[in-house]
Amino acid sequence: MAQKMSIDEFMRLVRSRRSCRKFKTDPVPDEMVEKILEAGRWAMSGGNGQPWEFVVIRDQAIKDRIADLFMNHRERVYQIERTRVKELRMPAYYEKPERKAPPLKNAPVIIAMLGDKRTKQSSVLSSHFFFGEGGPFAGYWKAMANATQIMHLAAAAQGLGSQWVTVNKGWEESLKAILEVPEELDIQTLIPIGYPDYKAPPPYRRKLSDIVHHDKYDHSKFRDGEAIYNWLLELRNRTEKSYEHGV
Ligand SMILES: Cc1cc2nc3c(=O)[nH]c(=O)nc-3n(C[C@H](O)[C@H](O)[C@H](O)COP(=O)(O)O)c2cc1C
Repeated sequence: MAQKMSIDEFMRLVRSRRSCRKFKTDPVPDEMVEKILEAGRWAMSGGNGQPWEFVVIRDQAIKDRIADLFMNHRERVYQIERTRVKELRMPAYYEKPERKAPPLKNAPVIIAMLGDKRTKQSSVLSSHFFFGEGGPFAGYWKAMANATQIMHLAAAAQGLGSQWVTVNKGWEESLKAILEVPEELDIQTLIPIGYPDYKAPPPYRRKLSDIVHHDKYDHSKFRDGEAIYNWLLELRNRTEKSYEHGV
């Protein structure tokens, strides 16, 4: 019978997982990567559609091409971010963010999270046109996010660091071309993985008492626009250090 993990161990794992944006050069053994992939395979998905597939990237020439592609895209992100008032900008974009690249070149391994939207047929037909869960494809994206999250945890459980690098329409097609991904599939996220080369700054999360309601929504906890704005400013201050090595 499988040994039961204590809740304290589980919470330690959950809390110890932090986005890692700088890695040592030490290689990550295949067996460790395999465990991360295996964890992803067990994620929850609507109708058990399991939309995920993974490309494990170790080839340096491919990593270099991905890193260059990212930086080209980043220039656009930077220009858009500059249209915001400075206090609301992502800290990594206060200045031109060349130095804040994610560790795509140097990560010993990158996992590309591919998704196949056609698997959405696994869930009830109404979910395709009732805009429940935030839109027809939201369930698919959530399934992909579930797999991604659980893979980050599997990395943390092995003492590895990992970063969630969003892939979006700005560079997805070019990335698909590099990885020769069929037209029918998406690339949602890249997960660079390696041994952490620094200690992540203390994490920040909202207090449980601020976010939990019992039986009904407690309106004394509702945040109006101004409260959200002030909180975002505070968030920027609290998390600036997290992006010191990249974003
Ligand atoms: C949907 C989603 C997209 C994210 N995209 C990025 C990203 O593109 N680059 C990055 O550095 N971190 C990204 N992150 C990681 C978050 O910034 C990070 O989880 C958050 O700041 C909390 O910090 P922690 O992971 O260290 O606890 C993403 C996370 C999620 C869930």
